[in-house]
Amino acid sequence: MSCNHNFIMPPKDPIIGFLSGHILGLSKRLDYFLHCHREYGDFVHLKIASLNVLMVSDPEAVNYVLKKNTKNYTKNTPAYKVVESVTGKGVFTQSEKPWLKLRKVSQPFFSNKQTENWERIVESVCADFLENCKEISTKGDEVNFSPKMTQYALRVLGETIFDKDLGEHVEVFDQHLGKLIDITNKVITQKLSLNLISKMKQKREFKLAVENLERLITTFIEEAKTKEHNPERNMIHAFLDAPFEVDHQFLLDQVKTMIFAGHETTSTVLSWALHFLSIHPEWQERLCKEIEEVFSDGDIRASKLDELVELEMFTNETMRLYPPAWSFARRALEDDDILGHQIKKGDVVSISPYLLHHDERYWEDPFIFNPMRFTREETEKRHPVSFLPFGLGPRACIGEKLSRMEMKMLLSTLIRNFRLIPSKKVEVVMEQVLTLRPLNGVHLSLEKRD
Ligand code: HEM
Repeated sequence: MSCNHNFIMPPKDPIIGFLSGHILGLSKRLDYFLHCHREYGDFVHLKIASLNVLMVSDPEAVNYVLKKNTKNYTKNTPAYKVVESVTGKGVFTQSEKPWLKLRKVSQPFFSNKQTENWERIVESVCADFLENCKEISTKGDEVNFSPKMTQYALRVLGETIFDKDLGEHVEVFDQHLGKLIDITNKVITQKLSLNLISKMKQKREFKLAVENLERLITTFIEEAKTKEHNPERNMIHAFLDAPFEVDHQFLLDQVKTMIFAGHETTSTVLSWALHFLSIHPEWQERLCKEIEEVFSDGDIRASKLDELVELEMFTNETMRLYPPAWSFARRALEDDDILGHQIKKGDVVSISPYLLHHDERYWEDPFIFNPMRFTREETEKRHPVSFLPFGLGPRACIGEKLSRMEMKMLLSTLIRNFRLIPSKKVEVVMEQVLTLRPLNGVHLSLEKRD
């Protein structure tokens, strides 16, 4: 074990470590992250060939990088380059001035002015979902709900940001995007592999998948151009009005970015929430009681979802255990000092919400599901940065409010109307990819409540 920059460096891979650094360890992903944190602490120095990757897991230090000295840290990192090859140059991957001009155009779509519009949309998309669930419960079938969560998130996204009912296209979209996300996952893992043939095959498949997705979005952009101009409801129209040059590739990139950032994240949290509900019937009953108290006249209205305090605790606990963005990184523009730990210009700082969320110093029995950790009293006792599902600082998630609303609307609709029964046939196993998702989906059956 050696020390550099005041970070601790774990031993390198025994055979190829002198060339590749910690690449073999890193290919084990979460397990290696957990191991490094447990064995070497909050400041760990890893190498990927000649690149310094500094893992920072102290909440104050994370606060410093993402918020206090955010101007020194950009998204120009290897992982964000892979994301950029899918999304192009959008608000999610860009830094500094190019990011600021994109954020200015995107921000109004997530402001309080949109709340009523979102409420109308999530209520209507959930009404369709409820009809579908009634059929499922009548047939008594066991169904994989994960694809349904993806389609739900896509529909909400289409209607709230692009004023477009993706209803009829949802399956094709999901198919192209799902393929692309699968390949992106493989590309990210392959980046850490030395198998050149497999890398080339991935590259070809990846290019084809991007082309397929772009072809679909192109028809969607062309259609938007023929519709009545509405820059407050349709982000494509807002970008067409922007005070800078906008070409077709630029529009493609912005649409791909929003879809990429906004649908898989929300849908995986929903899938996990359904899983936890199904294996914790006591929480189903508890939450159903809360929903019936808040909506005593029977109608679930999106404008009152904030009153569902226990459902919020439940969703937070789901995101604590399985944060979709389980790790992200920044690159230092200049030398810096993070709480006495030196960073050199060009170093990559890696931050893992998963490690923060499973740190025993802030969470007792961190691998156990327990929404009671999120009562107000418990939350006030903890470091605020020990819970980081939506990131922090100026680059924090732009869609947090929307996704919290859509998640609560769907969950309360489901809980109020059905009991969720877990599958006896299909086991739920976590898959570590871009997000942390259930490998074979979440299979459930529904039993209608009286
Ligand atoms: C449960 C759902 C979601 C989670 C857990 C989540 C998580 C995150 C996180 C952690 C970041 C910051 C990444 C970093 O700092 O490197 C982020 C950024 C972002 N998210 Fe989300 N997100 C969710 C839903 C959404 C939705 C619904 C949308 C859009 C409709 C969205 C759009 C974005 C965008 C555009 C950014 C980049 C913001 C910027 O850099 O200015 N997200 N998200």
